[in-house]
Order: sequence, then C-alpha cells, then structure tokens
Amino acid sequence: MQCPFCKSDDTSVIDTRTQEDGLVIKRKRVCNRCQRKFNTYERVDTLPLFVVKKDGSREQYDRKKIERGIVQACHKRNLSSAKIMEIVDKIEKAINLKDVNEITSIEIGDIVIEILKNIDQVAYIRFVSVYKDFQDLDEFINELKKISFVKSNRLEKLIELAGCCDTLIDVGCDHAYIDIEMSKRKMANKIIAIDVKDGPLEKAKENIDKAKIKNIKLVKANGLSGIDIDKNCTIVIAGMGGEKIAKILEDAMPFEYNKLVLLPHTKIEVLRKFLNDNKFKNTKETLIYDDNKWYNYIVVE
Ligand SMILES: C[S@@+](CC[C@H](N)C(=O)[O-])C[C@H]1O[C@@H](n2cnc3c(N)ncnc32)[C@H](O)[C@@H]1O
Repeated sequence: MQCPFCKSDDTSVIDTRTQEDGLVIKRKRVCNRCQRKFNTYERVDTLPLFVVKKDGSREQYDRKKIERGIVQACHKRNLSSAKIMEIVDKIEKAINLKDVNEITSIEIGDIVIEILKNIDQVAYIRFVSVYKDFQDLDEFINELKKISFVKSNRLEKLIELAGCCDTLIDVGCDHAYIDIEMSKRKMANKIIAIDVKDGPLEKAKENIDKAKIKNIKLVKANGLSGIDIDKNCTIVIAGMGGEKIAKILEDAMPFEYNKLVLLPHTKIEVLRKFLNDNKFKNTKETLIYDDNKWYNYIVVE
C-alpha cells in the first residue's frame, strides 16, 4: 500500500480491526519513510447495484458519491475521517440489507438521513436541506422541530430567553426537554436539572440517555436547596405557580446569579410583588401566545 503523504511503497500494518460485524477490516498503517500514519479499509465486494435517479435514468452505484455528500455535510463538525468512513459503512450496510439490484436515489437519501440524524444533527440538517432542496425558512424550521425535544413555542421561548450561559439551572425540569435541547445546541457548559419528584427525574434520565447527553446533572431537590449557585448561573423556573416560584427564590436568598428566567403559570402578580419587594432589578416581561394560551415570562438580569 502506497503512503498517501510521501507516496513511498514501504509501509507497514500496525493494527488490524474488524468493523460492521466483520464486513469491514480496518488497518492502521505507518509509512516507514515519512513515519506518518493512515488507515485503509477492506470491504466485501458486493454485486453491481444500480441507482435510479429522480429523472428515471440509471447509473452504477458509487460509494464515492455517498462519501462526498457525507464529507460536505460533516464539514467542520469535528468528525474524524475514520468516523466519516464508519458513517458511510453504516449507510452501505443498510443498502446491502435491502438485497436488491436497483435502488432509487430517494431511498438512498432516506437511509443517509436516518443514519445522520442519530450521529450529528448539524450534519443531518445540512444534508436534508440540500437533499430536499429547502426553499424557505419554514421548511428549515419544520425539519429542526422533527429532531428537537422542544416542540412548543413556549419551551423554545424559554431557551431563547435563557440564551448561552456558563451554568444552566433548571428548577422543575420535568422531562428535561429544554436542558437536552440547550446541551445539544451547545448553549451551556454545565446543566443542573432539578426536580422534587422521582417520576419526572426518571423520565428526564430516559430522555437524556436517549439523546446520549453527558453534561446534564440530574438532582432531586426541593427548589434550589443544597444547590451551589453563583454569578455564572442562569436559573430557569418555569411551569409552576407564581407563589411557588417566589418561595423557591426566597428560600435560596441571598444568592448571586447571571440571569433568572421565570415563567409562572398562575399568580404572576405575587411573583412580581416578591421581585419588587426584594429589589430584584432589571426585570423585563415578555408575552407570547402558544397553543391557545398566553404565557408571561419574567427575565431578571
Ligand atoms: C408543570 S412541570 C413544568 C416543567 C417545565 N419546567 C416546563 O416549564 O415545561 C412542573 C415541574 O416542577 C416540579 N416541581 C414542583 N415543585 C418543585 C420544587 N419545589 N422543586 C423542584 N421541582 C418542583 C414538578 O415535579 C414538575 O415536574
């Protein structure tokens, strides 16, 4: 095997592994002249496969075309070339499993979409927007909603108001929808999702595991009791009565914070009075209408 860097033929295999249930053999090689390392892959040669394109014409299946599409979609996504090869192998395996001589380009596109969706969501959206030829922002947003845990405008607004932060503390996290979404969007370095009940925490754990997220710490606590809060924390307390939110803040006082994002579902006047009486400055209110209801957010900075 020739070295791709210096073109010397003097290369050695330093590691051999099987992938994709033994259908692929990956060999790590080193060039004995320039000492650089590279990987090669040995695959089962499958029967000729034809791809039926959108205009009805046929062409021979070409792995390189899929590889190019994936490389473009994964541009600057911090995925190694080995990972990209692994994605293409997965796609090829799914195509082979169909056990057909002909496949449409649409079927191949759907396989790629399904596989990318679970590996890298930015690459997924890039691929879908080109493949489905998005014409406007609405099509783009609808596609984003399909992969988002956050389906409502109410929760999307919470995320927008919380914004990028160092530490996000979500009191009353329930399913941890906003925490998962903010982690996926890389909007917080550290996330603490709190709930007082076991049921919501179990659902949150299921969702976090499903989304393969590592930076969310689930805590069972009553409000902010026992939680370390400092000036880098953005605290979200949403979906409870205004009195309860005020009580959670009162029990934690005095404390520093970066931002509070509060969404009382009832008794907003009680919360307003509490914030005013306790000299919480820079409060701003935002109103949105979602699913036949008005929601009034209070942001304190
Ligand atoms: C209606 S859900 C709202 C979930 C989410 N924050 C939202 O806005 O969609 C309220 C959640 O707050 C939790 N909760 C209620 N009181 C709490 C408290 N004192 N401390 C922590 N969690 C609390 C409940 O168990 C429940 O999961």
